[in-house]
Amino acid sequence: MYLLKESHPEFISGEIICRNLGISRTAVWKHIQTLRANGYEIAALPHAGYQLLNVPDRLYPEEIHDGLGTEFIGRKVYYYEHAISTNETARELADRGCPDGALVIAEEQSGGKGRLGRKWFSPYGKGIWCSIILYPPVNPSDAPPLTMLGAVAIARAIRKVVQVEAGIKWPNDILLDGKKICGILSEMNAEIERINYLVIGIGINVNVEDFPEELEDNVTSLKIYTGQPVKRTVLLQETLRELEYLYKIWLQNGFQPILRFWKEMCVMLNQMVRVNGIKDIVEGWAEDVDEHGNLILRLGDGSLKGLVAGDVSLQGGFDLQANRREGSSL
Ligand code: BTN
Repeated sequence: MYLLKESHPEFISGEIICRNLGISRTAVWKHIQTLRANGYEIAALPHAGYQLLNVPDRLYPEEIHDGLGTEFIGRKVYYYEHAISTNETARELADRGCPDGALVIAEEQSGGKGRLGRKWFSPYGKGIWCSIILYPPVNPSDAPPLTMLGAVAIARAIRKVVQVEAGIKWPNDILLDGKKICGILSEMNAEIERINYLVIGIGINVNVEDFPEELEDNVTSLKIYTGQPVKRTVLLQETLRELEYLYKIWLQNGFQPILRFWKEMCVMLNQMVRVNGIKDIVEGWAEDVDEHGNLILRLGDGSLKGLVAGDVSLQGGFDLQANRREGSSL
């Protein structure tokens, strides 16, 4: 594959491939047939050799690795056409001791899991449905901000690759025009003082065109938003690079620098919000997010309340500028 890509758009002779790989012509031909069966379009001419015409829109490990440039995140890829949930597969692989930073990716999920027990719509070939396994050397109580780190990484990757102003809604939804394009579900296996492993599950609606009716009002995809299909491998690679970059910063300097990035992209600070919490619904002014990732609300009676989890909504839509405005009033 590498040789075909390197010589693209020119032909490369069978003989050169044989010499480079140290294999026979028959072996080369078999390899070409396998690539074709995997969706690569390759022309073959008797005296010219082989020419790569088209790479399929699949998240194959070779495509992810091509130019990735990370040290450990995504170096090992477990690829599946179909998974029930990549988070579940990731947990099984982590139980068996897979490498740090391993990536589990599926073209479709039949039982994709969302936060708060919801389902995650994951149609074939239309999104990035993946999980990353990490073994962070920290106490379990220091791990929750990693999900917010994931949101920062993805929002930065989307901004870079697609050039749209993706915003973040607490704790880790990524929105475009108030509609969700990405969600993160982190799961941890830990003892009291030790994390055995952490799974960061990422769902990005990249080229989804139709959503089930009950989701339509609240979700969108990059393709619907921009009117253009987005290359999933390119966005995934950038996400992995950003993840590794921010994860290293977090390990060295803690959560503060990450939180600064997070706040810059947040679309719901300095506004009145309603939070559907685990136990109750709370309304208040979204004043801040603290160093543990808790949302700090100023309530009607002037007191402050910190929230660990919940679903945020607000009247009038989410506003990327609001958190950049100075000061806040009650
Ligand atoms: C959310 O509800 O916002 C979180 C959604 C997380 C979905 C991703 S898709 C890949 C990974 N596998 C799962 O089953 N869920 C996560």
